[in-house]
Amino acid sequence: MNVLVTGGAGYIGSHTCVELLENGYNVIVVDNLSNASVESIQRVREITGKEVLFYDTDVRDKAAMDLIFARQKIDWVIHFAGLKAVGESCKKPVEYYDNNLNGTLVLLRAMREHNCKKIVFSSSATVYGDPEVLPLTEECKTGGTTNPYGTSKYFQEIMLRDLYNSDPEWTVVLLRYFNPVGAHKSGLIGEDPKGIPNNLTPYIAKVAIGELKEISVFGNDYPTPDGTGVRDYIHVTDLAKGHVAAIEKIGGNGVYTYNLGTGVGYSVLDVIHAFEKACGHQLPYVIKERRAGDIAACYANAEKAKRELGWEAKLGIDEMCASLWNWQTKNPNGYKR
Ligand code: NAD
Ligand code: UFG
Repeated sequence: MNVLVTGGAGYIGSHTCVELLENGYNVIVVDNLSNASVESIQRVREITGKEVLFYDTDVRDKAAMDLIFARQKIDWVIHFAGLKAVGESCKKPVEYYDNNLNGTLVLLRAMREHNCKKIVFSSSATVYGDPEVLPLTEECKTGGTTNPYGTSKYFQEIMLRDLYNSDPEWTVVLLRYFNPVGAHKSGLIGEDPKGIPNNLTPYIAKVAIGELKEISVFGNDYPTPDGTGVRDYIHVTDLAKGHVAAIEKIGGNGVYTYNLGTGVGYSVLDVIHAFEKACGHQLPYVIKERRAGDIAACYANAEKAKRELGWEAKLGIDEMCASLWNWQTKNPNGYKR
């Protein structure tokens, strides 16, 4: 079976390519390398010993996408391609809506014209906005997003539902990721953020290796057990396996929505202490003001994915931190883009 992976050179995409290849799928990657290195594709080949067809292509390039669909029959598309930095999206809303919404629209038109009507979409817990109840189930209210990135995810979910409503031959899987962290156990692929990381765990890793001075903890006055923000961190390998489970288990047409999380919330201080165990030394941190747009706590009820896809996260916070540390120490400069 042929799976087209848009954004497959990126962080979650590369880990998903490994899981797909190891489960016997043929993988075709489309990525414009705007936030990735082609080296990740080479590493995926190295881990799996399998070939990956790679196109350095923008998903908004309709003619190029048509050629790709014409060259080989695609059975499923997993759509990761998009811009994902929350802060940057507030400064560049036009670029974010263009890339994320236009990218999805062009892809869907190409899919429809080539009669490929099965898509797994990378959505996010961000579509729930500031949660009214925890843990979050798939039935919780969506919308109320606070930045263009989150709003683009919310809009894309609506676009995909409308598409199915117009043509019930589609199969649409909306996977709402919680906080993906960690790296492949080989240490060959991992997250390679450009510049100073915005997200907590890559920032911690750079402090641990001595590249950055100290961790800033954004607020310790939230209504959480230790006052710092609580999130549902999920190992990227578990997350990647969730995509394979979706392709394998979903039989009929329809729109299917799943939370991919562990169901467990950890605070910022919990994560720092777990990382100290992984790297073997204490990590300096300072308490700072709350970061604009942050919510106190967010974690999943992931029972639906367990029930319907037979998938559940297996790796805990210690494995997440150890695998990130393994990647960081083996690749101190990432893929050296
Ligand atoms: P990433 O930036 O590592 O991967 C995205 C990939 O898409 C990159 O390789 C980039 O070069 C590529 N890309 C971007 N625009 C493109 C375009 N127009 N055409 C072709 N390729 C393009 O990010 P990631 O963390 O792997 O995230 C993958 C997906 O999951 C994204 O859609 C993201 O919004 C979503 N997501 C991520 C998180 C997270 O915390 N990492 C959480 C929830 C959802
Ligand atoms: N944090 C710090 N210091 C830092 C970075 C983060 O204290 O240097 C805190 C944040 O305040 C928050 C927690 O660590 O409490 C996690 O923050 P991240 O930036 O790592 O992740 P977010 O939960 O803000 O957002 C991430 C992705 C989004 C995605 C969301 C899904 O960045 O794209 O998870 O839940 F939508």
